[in-house]
Amino acid sequence: ASQKTWSGRFSEPVAELVKRYTASVFFDKRLAEFDIQGSLAHAQMLNKVGVLSSEDLSAITDGMAKILSDIRAGSFEWSLDLEDVHMNIEKRLTDLIGDAGKRLHTGRSRNDQVATDIRLWLRHEIDSLIALANDLQAALLELAEANAETVMPGFTHLQVAQPITFGHHLLAYVEMLARDVERLHDTRRRTNRLPLGSAALAGTSYPIDREYVAKQLGFDAVCYNSLDAVSDRDFAIEFTAAAALIMTHLSRLSEELVLWMNPRFGFIDMSDRYCTGSSIMPQKKNPDVPELVRGKTGRVNGHLVSLLTLMKGQPLAYNKDNQEDKEPLFDTVDTVSATLRIVADMMRGVVVKPEAMRRAVKQGYATATDLADYLVKKGLPFRDAHEAVALAVRYASEQKKDLEELSLVELGTFSPLISADVFSVLTPEGSLASRDHIGGTAPKQVRAAILRARQRLAGA
Ligand code: ARG
Repeated sequence: ASQKTWSGRFSEPVAELVKRYTASVFFDKRLAEFDIQGSLAHAQMLNKVGVLSSEDLSAITDGMAKILSDIRAGSFEWSLDLEDVHMNIEKRLTDLIGDAGKRLHTGRSRNDQVATDIRLWLRHEIDSLIALANDLQAALLELAEANAETVMPGFTHLQVAQPITFGHHLLAYVEMLARDVERLHDTRRRTNRLPLGSAALAGTSYPIDREYVAKQLGFDAVCYNSLDAVSDRDFAIEFTAAAALIMTHLSRLSEELVLWMNPRFGFIDMSDRYCTGSSIMPQKKNPDVPELVRGKTGRVNGHLVSLLTLMKGQPLAYNKDNQEDKEPLFDTVDTVSATLRIVADMMRGVVVKPEAMRRAVKQGYATATDLADYLVKKGLPFRDAHEAVALAVRYASEQKKDLEELSLVELGTFSPLISADVFSVLTPEGSLASRDHIGGTAPKQVRAAILRARQRLAGA
């Protein structure tokens, strides 16, 4: 135990069980590259303010380069006895370069060190998630463009409601993802602050230059309160909340893919590489991937609750509880990033079946609202029009016919206002074309929306 960095005060070694319980190296080694980045910026600053000699600085720089390449090569030996990523690297540095390695931790604590590492790491991950979410939007836009005129039933209560285009439906998800990306940008702004310099909790007596370190590491600013800087993880929590919303959106899309792929709907087919068979039922082609997306949403929601719960009882400032922030955060990033990637590829493999979508529109009296609106435009109050059309739908369904298939004489029995021009509003195409305003489902508007979304993506 004598190799423990803080062991001088202790008269007996840490129990084996405790060592194992408190160690984090096997997961926080993932922060290694960022830990080194932070240490180098700290060392440069110490040198600049005259606390660390130039010889020590260059020894530290060389030593860290060697450590970094060993870590990248997978030849770095991580030790449980050294507890976490920070002490593993520092110990190795000292083995390599001697006393200069021991001077690195001047004016610093693992508390501000780890807070800095996580922020650097998360900033990096947020940037890749933004790129992935944008690529998924691009995939959805490709499919939407190919289906700007493809008629499908829009649902409310999962009952056929009104005709929409498949392109319009997909664009709903593009909007959700665009807001998800905004949330990530917003979280990034609050993540991108420098805790280093806060030391253990109260700051340090060395003449440090925090602004300089912030600049070196690309942070927008320093954290302005040392207690807050080492102890709060709100940036990680809000990131996880943003991640949970991304998963929620992808889960809804997945639920729809599962439904649409069911032969009772038959709206789409999915590439075989996204499905699996059954070990017992030879006929099966199962949509495992969207089902798993739905399932994995639960684990990210769980991570959000974990982190909120982790934080809520902690007195200021740092407490070891915070070491538990990492696994939920890492798993959130891994889950969301894999999911965004796979959903984008899956959407590029969706095969649309327009005949089935059209058939479903016809079976659901989706243009009933259009008939009511037609009567209103001819002077009937909306409530009366609603009632007249309800009777017409009832009659048509008794005849096992679509509204469009009723004769003018039959239609005329429900209102004398109905004349031959009614048939243009009873077709799905007529209904679609009439919803011609920003945000509406008219194919013209869908194309305009695709253009707008592409411009937004290009500006991002
Ligand atoms: N492994 C610790 C963490 O993740 C690093 C900070 C430890 N600080 C301390 N005072 N024990 O939070």
